[in-house]
Amino acid sequence: MDVKEKQQKISQLRAQIAACIRCPLHKTRTNTVPGEGDVSAQIMFIGEAPGRNEDLQGKPFVGRAGDVFDKLLNSIGITRDQIYLCNILKCRPPENRNPLSSEISSCVGSLDLQIKIVSPKVICTMGNFATTYIFDKFQIPPAKISSVAGKIIAVETLFGSIKIVPLFHPAVATYDVNKTNLLIDQFQVLKPFCPEGHRVCSENIA
Ligand code: URA
Repeated sequence: MDVKEKQQKISQLRAQIAACIRCPLHKTRTNTVPGEGDVSAQIMFIGEAPGRNEDLQGKPFVGRAGDVFDKLLNSIGITRDQIYLCNILKCRPPENRNPLSSEISSCVGSLDLQIKIVSPKVICTMGNFATTYIFDKFQIPPAKISSVAGKIIAVETLFGSIKIVPLFHPAVATYDVNKTNLLIDQFQVLKPFCPEGHRVCSENIA
């Protein structure tokens, strides 16, 4: 799929997500938060769900966890426009509670399409929910995030070999600032997969 086609398909998907009423979260959302970034990125990051700021702005990781995330990207010399960033859920759970399994199963069709369209070589799962879903999707035996964080797991797909990299969620450092260095250390495993130059084909529509 060329970049133009990817952009078209991602735009269509954004419109579908904006109109989605598959689960009750549509009743309490301000905006959907579909995700954003380079539709041809080699690296995709998947978080959990929008929080308050994300819901208000319709963009992923714009709150305190987003500041940590930017720091982590910076530590490996890349920026948001060189990756694709999205969440398991596209709508905010009230009071930032954990996603329900019914919400996850209603929503992951969109994530599956994002993975298919962007077709990243590396999928980084941030936190338990993203890790559990992606491990299941690619038939990796379930594991606690604490025992697999920072590992590179190669999987064969119909579209070739890709890597899954589970990571702690950046919000960890917002609860305990002493964890920032641990997160930065973990992130360094991504360096070999980072783009060298700055590529400009991002899908930065809010
Ligand atoms: N913001 C997001 O968009 N996702 C998270 O998982 C946390 C904060």
